[in-house]
Order: sequence, then C-alpha cells, then structure tokens
Amino acid sequence: MKIMTVFGTRPEAIKMAPLVCALEREPGIESVLCVTAQHRSMLDQVLELFELTPEYDLDIMQPGQTISMITSRVLEGLEEVLEKERPDRVLVHGDTSTTFAAALACFYKRIPVGHVEAGLRTYDRYSPFPEEINRVLTGHIADLHFAPTPRNRDNLLREGIADDRIFVTGNTVIDALLQVADRPYTFEEEPLASLDFATKRVITVTCHRRENQGERMDNIFGAIADIAREFADVEIVYPVHLNPVVQELARKHLAGMDNVHLIEPLTYLPFVHLMARSHLIITDSGGMQEEAPALSKPVLVVRKETERPEAVEAGTVKLAGVERADIYRLTKELLCDDAAYASMAKAANPYGDGHACSRIVEILKSL
Ligand code: UD1
Ligand code: UDP
Repeated sequence: MKIMTVFGTRPEAIKMAPLVCALEREPGIESVLCVTAQHRSMLDQVLELFELTPEYDLDIMQPGQTISMITSRVLEGLEEVLEKERPDRVLVHGDTSTTFAAALACFYKRIPVGHVEAGLRTYDRYSPFPEEINRVLTGHIADLHFAPTPRNRDNLLREGIADDRIFVTGNTVIDALLQVADRPYTFEEEPLASLDFATKRVITVTCHRRENQGERMDNIFGAIADIAREFADVEIVYPVHLNPVVQELARKHLAGMDNVHLIEPLTYLPFVHLMARSHLIITDSGGMQEEAPALSKPVLVVRKETERPEAVEAGTVKLAGVERADIYRLTKELLCDDAAYASMAKAANPYGDGHACSRIVEILKSL
C-alpha cells in the first residue's frame, strides 16, 4: 500500500511528523512524503527535528503570499507528483490552504484522501479565516476522517459524513508532544538561557491568525504591554511568527520593553520546554490549545471563538476575546488570584493519549 503524506506549514508538520515516522516503520506500507513548503524555515525546523527527508518538496513559499497564490501553486505542483507516484491514498492534515489544495488535487486525480484532524468546526465561515472553509471542503473531499474527539465525529455526522468512514483517534499533536517533552533540554541561547524561571513568572505568547491581524492585534499586544509594565516579576517570551504583518505589529507595540522578549520562532523541542516552564500561555494558536492542557498550563485564547471547546470545558483554556481590557483583566486575574490560577493549572487530556498515530496506521492497514 503506497501512502503519500502532504503537508506544508509548521503545525501540520508537527502533527504529521510522528505519523510519517509510524508509516515508515510499517512493513506493509510504502510511505512517500511530499511537502509543499507553504512555510519554508518554520517547516524545515520540524523536518530536521523529526529527521524527515521529503521525497518531494514543492518549495512554494513566497514572502507575503496570498491564499490564492498558495492554493494555485499547490494544485499545480502536486499534479505532477501525483501523476508520477500514483499513491493508493494521500493523507492531509487540518485546515491550511495546503490541506485543501492538496485534497482538491487528489480529487482531480481520483485518488482517495484521508483527513487527519477532521471535524473541527466553529460554524463561522470567516473565523478562523480561511481555515473553517478549508476544513469543511477538505472533509467533503476526503473519504476517511480521523477525528481527534467524539465531538469532532458528531460534527461530521451532522454534515452527512458516513459513520463508518469516521474514526476517533485522538489528536496526533499529543503523540508529537509526548515524544518531544521526554527529551531533556537546556536552553543554550539568549534570552532564554539566562531567564530565571524560578523567580520570574514567564508568560509565553504567540499570535498570528489572519482574522486577528490589524486592530485586534493592536488590542492583544496593547494588553500584553499593560501587563509587562505593571508586573515586574513577569517575563514575556514571544517567538514571533515570520509573517511580515505580524512581525511589524509585534514590534510596534512590544519592542524595547525590558521584560518582553521578541524572539525568532523556536524549534519545537525548545518551544515545548518553554511552554512546560511557563506560568501561563496567551495565544491564538490552535495547536497550543491542545498542547498546553496536557502540560497543565492555563491558556488564554485571544480569539472570539474556538473549534476546540473540549479544553474550555475541562477548565484549562479560557476564551479571552480580542478586547484589550478583557485580555488585561483575565491575565491579571491569573497573576493575582491563586485560586483562579489553580483552577486552570490542572492536567487535562481531552485531545488524546499519545497513541493516535498507531491507531491511524492500524485503520489504514485494515482497509
Ligand atoms: C498559515 C495557515 C494557517 C496556519 C498557520 C500556522 C493558510 C492560509 N494559513 O498561516 O492556517 O494556522 O500557517 O502558522 O494556510 N513566512 C516566512 N517563513 C516561514 C513561514 C512564513 O517567511 O517559514 C512568512 C512569509 O512571508 C509568508 C507569510 O509568512 O508569505 C505568511 O505565511 P502563510 O503560510 O501564507 O500564512 P500564515 O499566517 O503562516
Ligand atoms: N510552535 C513552535 N515554535 C514556536 C511557536 C509554536 O514549535 O516558536 C509550535 C506549537 O507548539 C504548536 C505549533 O507550533 O505545536 C503551532 O503552530 P502555529 O501557531 O504556527 O499554528 P496553529 O496551531 O495556529 O495552526
């Protein structure tokens, strides 16, 4: 059975890397990896960490690319690869434009698609943008759906996806997280090497979503600056996404503050150790809403909605919204109110047990 895996951005790579490793170990499966490189350096960081060498690299990234550019370059690039390899099945992940365009390219070649991380929904087509529609469309192209949670399965059933094509596997991000969190790590580079995690309360921040770019990021970064000014024992570490729009906004609000560290995106290994040593996390990332609960870290999500309500229900994630006053108030509460902090800083694993990849491999073998 020849299985081709296609991904292109950092989060897809992190969540698919353990699956590709599992496929490569499987004697009955020929595994072929094709990366679109929708992200270049942020993808390469992950490939290097998991020691993956793709058979194909479409190398599509362009600075300041639009969604249409990504979609058309992936479609064109994959056509040739699919023609040459003729895989029995292609696996795609999640909700990026690589995901949707790769699924569409497969459909045009009548190659079946398995969707990993299927069934997440906000039911707001413009938020997250364009991810909500990317995952809906991919879900309706795919014929196999690997849903992380029972709720994701229910979402798919409501859309008329056949029950026997949906498999609740857990999220592969927990497989990746557990593999990496176990490796010992000491920060070697500044500013993390000399940050005193024992006496300082470290807040890890990430923020990149398209719908947050602009006024909402002004609000989010404004609130973070307020917190940094007020709390001398707080250190804010923000590995800034390489999107030039995000880089500019982050610098505009947060550059030059002594206790705010704007750094380059970290490789997954140091980043997991940074999260594990942080006091709390402020983010609009999807993946970090899944990882932080497994590390017992409170998360404030700077978005209006989430397709990951399981951790909100478990109590470790709170939707903070996108208003400066709300984000400031909720962060301050976690810094000042021990009971509020303790009620969120508890281990919860609604997204998996670290065995999602082996379940997916078993399902593929059984078909
Ligand atoms: C993309 C996905 C989003 C996902 C996010 C994860 C789409 C439309 N968006 O958004 O769903 O949550 O990745 O991070 O699929 N850049 C670099 N080097 C890199 C990566 C990015 O320079 O390694 C810069 C480039 O200028 C690039 C820009 O960032 O054009 C934006 O990248 P893009 O993939 O279009 O959008 P993201 O905001 O990263
Ligand atoms: N991450 C990382 N280095 C960083 C910031 C994030 O390795 O500097 C990881 C993080 O742990 C998570 C993933 O990247 O697994 C999230 O990626 P991103 O925020 O780009 O996308 P999203 O999760 O929003 O789709």
